[in-house]
Amino acid sequence: MLRADALLSRFGYCSRREAAAWIRAGRICLDQETITSPSVKLDPARVLVDGEPIPFVNGILVALHKPLGYTCSHTPENGAPTIYELLPAQWLARSPAVQSIGRLDKETSGLLMLSDDGDLVHALTSPRRHIQKVYEYRTIAPVPLEATALFASGSFTLNGEKTPCLPAALEPDATDPCHGFLRLHEGRYHQVRRMLAAVGAPVTQLTRVAIGSLQLASLSLLPGEWTPVDSRVFTDVP
Ligand code: URA
Repeated sequence: MLRADALLSRFGYCSRREAAAWIRAGRICLDQETITSPSVKLDPARVLVDGEPIPFVNGILVALHKPLGYTCSHTPENGAPTIYELLPAQWLARSPAVQSIGRLDKETSGLLMLSDDGDLVHALTSPRRHIQKVYEYRTIAPVPLEATALFASGSFTLNGEKTPCLPAALEPDATDPCHGFLRLHEGRYHQVRRMLAAVGAPVTQLTRVAIGSLQLASLSLLPGEWTPVDSRVFTDVP
């Protein structure tokens, strides 16, 4: 249960200060009955605002097909568009606002999760959780055969880092040595690009194709499109 003014702010309609005017204007109903006081406590699931139920009343968890060229920043950087421009503006006005669960580089496309549930974001990004993420890469030079054993060893250390990377599974394409998949259980800064550059094969294209059991291909999303996801997809992640 939330106070009417807190509810309008929580779900991104207006600030708590502006809520009184919304309520005076008769825009908020509970079970068809118009609310008249900002302090009345309401069950968000039974509220209509301007005759419409509150979207994502139980919180937002969506999968976005991040397009190339978009940053995961909340503020535009050097004129580049941000992923938040692809989402309904009201999601950003919610309190807490929607945020990405981890990040992808500007020049990486693919599967990105977003939520307005801080605890869920924290749980899914926790380094202890080791959620598997799969990246499809293309490189400018062939990835050497010995990279598979090196990345799987658990002793490969990135330039400038002290702790070795967790074992990672490299799956090179049998017919194209400049193409394949890399499965990681952690998310260090520019990790895939740095790992492949370290074995002499700088990345030219990178797409995240899966997070846990969620596959980008099964979601049928064009770049820039998003779809709601049930949080239970992450309860049994590998
Ligand atoms: N590794 C990278 O190098 N970039 C990403 O965006 C994600 C993983």
